[in-house]
Amino acid sequence: MAPWSAPAAFYEPAGARRRWFGRRPPAITRPARPATDPDTPDRADGAAYLPAGGETGPQAGRSWHELRLPAHRGTSDTVAGAYPFLAEGGLGGHGVYIGQDAWSGGGFCYDPWVLYADGVLTNPNALLAGVVGKGKSCLAKSIATRSIAFGRRVYVPGDPKGEWTAVAQAVGGISIRLGPGTGNRVNPLDPGPRPRGLADEQWHTETARRRRTLLGSLAESSLGRPLAATEHTALDAALYAALESSTTPTLPGVVQALLGPSTSMAGATPVQLARDGRDLGHALRRLVAGDLAGLFDGPSTVRFDPSLPMVTLDLAAIQGSDQLLAMVMTCASAWMEAALADPDGGQRWVIYDEAWRLMRQPALLARMQSQWKLSRGLGIANLLIVHRLSDLDAVGDATSEARALARGLLGDCSTKIVYQQEVSESANTATHLGLTSAERAQLPDLQRGEGLWRVGQHAFVVRHVATEDELALFDTNQRMIPVSR
Ligand SMILES: Nc1ncnc2c1ncn2[C@@H]1O[C@H](COP(=O)(O)OP(=O)(O)OP(=O)(O)O)[C@@H](O)[C@H]1O
Ligand SMILES: [Mg+2]
Repeated sequence: MAPWSAPAAFYEPAGARRRWFGRRPPAITRPARPATDPDTPDRADGAAYLPAGGETGPQAGRSWHELRLPAHRGTSDTVAGAYPFLAEGGLGGHGVYIGQDAWSGGGFCYDPWVLYADGVLTNPNALLAGVVGKGKSCLAKSIATRSIAFGRRVYVPGDPKGEWTAVAQAVGGISIRLGPGTGNRVNPLDPGPRPRGLADEQWHTETARRRRTLLGSLAESSLGRPLAATEHTALDAALYAALESSTTPTLPGVVQALLGPSTSMAGATPVQLARDGRDLGHALRRLVAGDLAGLFDGPSTVRFDPSLPMVTLDLAAIQGSDQLLAMVMTCASAWMEAALADPDGGQRWVIYDEAWRLMRQPALLARMQSQWKLSRGLGIANLLIVHRLSDLDAVGDATSEARALARGLLGDCSTKIVYQQEVSESANTATHLGLTSAERAQLPDLQRGEGLWRVGQHAFVVRHVATEDELALFDTNQRMIPVSR
């Protein structure tokens, strides 16, 4: 047999009879083939190929005239009605498996580092919003534990419900418990590891900036107002004095220097500094006295081990007002963030569960945002978990700097994952995220574990698939289910 060669046109052997099932159609009379038809090359043995356009003649399913339709233009709403079966192609198979893409039925994987490198995302941070009990923490825990298999490490700098402790232990990490009776203490003014190659002066400037920002935001949050210029000077003087007595200052050292300054600053005598720093001293004293004594009032007694796959700070034993808890979370996260400021630490997730508690404190939010700006350079992706986007509107008034800050934090999250929202909240969420009407209509109907994922300019509805082992480990419902079940 002669070797087969292109063009792969249909070949009908000479004299072959087609087999017809059912009634045979009337015979086809072929029109005379033009001698120069380039489509129908003759073979040497006399057999003819079919023309590339198919067999000609009546009932051959071939039109003599090319089908020409006028182009139709319509809005995406109208065209979606005519052809509703379009779905996003997905983000590819890189990264951790999250679950099923509800629109296309395919699997959905997500990796902020890969998507950032591909230009799909402009930053690796993510925001996760949803009403109570819809599976936000469960998703975050799946992302965390599955990421560890990809060599990532995970840090939870404040876990007010203590629900990450079992997860950390299960993956070979640790959970540091803070609170009365635990005997653990962390110093939020710890410098953290010094990056290689950083000159002495740069290193001092960086640690001073971090400590100053933390103390300023804690004081502002506690006082509920911005600091006056004289108070800023008093705080600078106190930090300076605390540094003179120890290379690693502590909160009690700063409080003591605020309430009883012994040296003067340019433009302020010790008496003036004592007067200006009095409110500040009492505001910060709350963190080192009373219920919170033993938590942040001295050098750290626990060591941060960067080689562990997961480290969490369990704050479940700490009780107090929302504002106090927010300040505690800030101190705890400042300690952990300092420890994470190592550019050689690899790619890491920092997960702020229950972050809505911090959102109401503009000063703490500002500190967090400045921290986020640095995190991209350190290979860190932050995941912020809140209930609703209007948590951001609870900050300051509509035109305030605080509100702009809160919005800025949203802008710093290229990935937004929205779990079920109350109907009243949908419009607000849609405006914040720039959702289409179809995406917005989905929000109240999302079931537990289902979320609308906005990844850069792409949108997906994803059903988080959790394994039985994961669910047993992540369960936060145990105490709500009757014992008989
Ligand atoms: N994808 C899922 N598949 C099956 N069960 C799930 C899924 N996601 C969450 N759950 C179940 O729902 C319960 C509540 O989930 P989770 O604690 O994650 O909610 P949450 O949104 O974080 O709530 P809260 O706002 O109170 O923190 C969990 O105990 C878990 O068992
Ligand atoms: Mg939760």
